[in-house]
Amino acid sequence: MRSLIDIKELTVQEIEELITVAEDIIANPKKYSEVCHGKKLATLFFEPSTRTRLSFEAAMYELGGNVLGFSEAQSSSAAKGESVSDTAKTVSCYADIIAMRHPKEGAPLVASMRASVPVINAGDGGHNHPTQTLTDLLTIHREKGTFENLTIGLCGDLKFGRTVHSLISAMARYKGVKFVLISPEELRVPEYVINEVLIPGGCDYVEVRSLEEHIGSLDILYMTRVQRERFFNEQDYIRLKDTYILDTEKLKKAKNDLCIMHPLPRVNEIAVSVDDDPRACYFKQVLYGKYARMALIMKLLELEVK
Ligand code: NCD
Repeated sequence: MRSLIDIKELTVQEIEELITVAEDIIANPKKYSEVCHGKKLATLFFEPSTRTRLSFEAAMYELGGNVLGFSEAQSSSAAKGESVSDTAKTVSCYADIIAMRHPKEGAPLVASMRASVPVINAGDGGHNHPTQTLTDLLTIHREKGTFENLTIGLCGDLKFGRTVHSLISAMARYKGVKFVLISPEELRVPEYVINEVLIPGGCDYVEVRSLEEHIGSLDILYMTRVQRERFFNEQDYIRLKDTYILDTEKLKKAKNDLCIMHPLPRVNEIAVSVDDDPRACYFKQVLYGKYARMALIMKLLELEVK
């Protein structure tokens, strides 16, 4: 039995297989509509979510399965002081697979050690978010046809943005990828990402401050929200929140085939006028998230469609 806590647990070949399945689901959705018949997914969300939770639920329904769960810690026994381990053991009695989001880094890992069913990390604090990365990889694959020889700019809150950490871990394994890490000094990518991923991977990366100066070199621009809920001090958040705002003016300097991504929710960092630009991929990305999760649920439940 396998869980998914960190994207690095999947080999490059397994990622390729998941992408192939997701693309087949997009092409032939009917073929998959009963594969999870009789199976249940539990969504245990101790933190707010729209896309991740609802795409997991939609994914399970589209596979013919059922869903149970809670969408806030206050409505679960966590509010009475129950541990994550006990919650995981309990839910293992009711469901075949668990998707868990938690504000504490490592909570889904702890749950996976105690649960008797697979646990999927749906975001743990400012740490990791592997299923967003599968979503992002499917988007990149469909837009660019490859993961190699791409210059990818990650812009905004690279410190607390868990989607950024997981995406860097995944993309660092492909040839010829160049990372342009665009953030204010205070929101630079954590040291562990540099020392445990980028340097050992022999990756080409630069850390810069200006989006305008670098936008012209990018094949992919991954914008992110400043993660207000991870700040200790509201004043710092207010000072940093609007550091980068992508608008149609800045896009004049970008390549014609730039792929603009964002895990969403957006606050201010992409002007609404950008939504009409053909290079805006963030709402397609939302849709791909459902297919990526369908492929992952099937893999972890060891279900195949012939
Ligand atoms: C992201 C998350 O929760 O980390 N959202 C998502 O899952 N699509 C990004 C964010 O909240 O900024």
